Amino acid sequence: MTSLPGRQSPVCARERQSAGFARERRRVLGIIYILVIMLILNKTARVFFKPSKRKVDGFLRSFNFHPGTLFLHKIVLGIETSCDDTAAAVVDETGNVLGEAIHSQTEVHLKTGGIIPPVAQQLHRENIQRIVQEALCASGISPSVLSAIATTIKPGLALSLGVGLSFSLQLVDQLKKPFIPIHHMEAHALTIRLTNKVEFPFLVLLISGGHCLLALVRGVSDFLLLGKSLDIAPGDMLDKVARRLSLIKHPECSTMSGGKAIEHLAKQGNRFHFDINPPMQRAKNCDFSFSGLQHVIDKIIMQKEKEEGIEKGQILSSAADIAAAVQHTTACHIAKRTHRAILFCKQRDLLSQSNAVLVVSGGVASNLYIRRALEIVTNATQCTLLCPPPRLCTDNGIMIAWNGIERLRAGLGILDNIEGVRYEPKCPLGVDISKEVAEAAIKVPRLKMKI
Ligand code: KG4
Ligand code: ZN
Repeated sequence: MTSLPGRQSPVCARERQSAGFARERRRVLGIIYILVIMLILNKTARVFFKPSKRKVDGFLRSFNFHPGTLFLHKIVLGIETSCDDTAAAVVDETGNVLGEAIHSQTEVHLKTGGIIPPVAQQLHRENIQRIVQEALCASGISPSVLSAIATTIKPGLALSLGVGLSFSLQLVDQLKKPFIPIHHMEAHALTIRLTNKVEFPFLVLLISGGHCLLALVRGVSDFLLLGKSLDIAPGDMLDKVARRLSLIKHPECSTMSGGKAIEHLAKQGNRFHFDINPPMQRAKNCDFSFSGLQHVIDKIIMQKEKEEGIEKGQILSSAADIAAAVQHTTACHIAKRTHRAILFCKQRDLLSQSNAVLVVSGGVASNLYIRRALEIVTNATQCTLLCPPPRLCTDNGIMIAWNGIERLRAGLGILDNIEGVRYEPKCPLGVDISKEVAEAAIKVPRLKMKI
């Protein structure tokens, strides 16, 4: 196995030695095998009539040939460091996850009350080499057989993206592999095609701590942006509310992310104790807003602290009711905007009238209450609701590797020259048609949100 930038794993070094003879034997067999294939193709398709070096290289890459091994499937290493997870995975063309590893920084950031970019950067630096090595070792393949390396380069925290990108570029240079720059949101949106047979076009709702958008996915790299959050993302709002409620001190929630803590506590609460209006009710578009809701909840908490005679930082007896109310309002807001997006796409024949698919992903998509609200919408509009499994909803390396596979298959954005590749902390997804959506001003029929 080729060594990775930085330290070497002793386990992998031992495996490399013992695999030496077997590899040599495979190498000879591989060469014989490829020569036979080349001869057959020469006879039948005349692919190698006067072969140029570039043609041969391209041919070998299409078969993922490397001296010593012959893989008929494309295999991609995916690397993700856009926020607070250092993740890597090796995925093949059929969607097999050959190896994966992840290091989550959630615990550290929970203690500091949010992500501090230089801290995230340092943790990525400390873990990236180990995580990539672990994913490769778990896959059992030599890095030399990779078809390409795919890495998130946009959007995300600059300091975090930088660690993943510079590590990847070193690796690309060392292994002489093509590089596939990945848009983090594109990867979230396409993950469903790894787990389910979903054809283009489909509608995607991405809701997490860092993102909130509705888009029509027409192809691997062909998106129409229907709406996005005008301020913060729903996960960010739920994290802030959870922090304000000091849920980290709650015995049942101390290790949970803010959103998960709210969902957990909401089950014990009564949402009817508070009457909160969903945001942006008059704006007939598909945009979202969560900071107004956060301020409303802040005021409620302050009022309750006064009423209960407790200090900021102590847990309110009404915390569960507040959690239930904020979760319900969030679910209604998300459901309404998504309902409008479905109606818009159907009205414009952008989605099938009877077989449309709505994909929901991102950390907040693991919230079952919000999923049920969305189910009410998809049932009312004859759509199918699909969510990747929770571990693929949150940030991970598998989605990046899979996005690499999708791009390899479509022949899109595969770089043989990495000069000038930069990370981009801000980068919109697709073509923004949110103004057109607003101009359509679709009135959404009222649905009973009995969840
Ligand atoms: O996708 P993700 O892992 O990271 C990014 O933000 O990109 O999502 C993390 C977010 C956090 O804000 C977290 O509070 C939220 O997803 N979250 C949830 C739940 N689990 C995680 N929000 C609501 N309900 C949950 N069960
Ligand atoms: Zn994400």
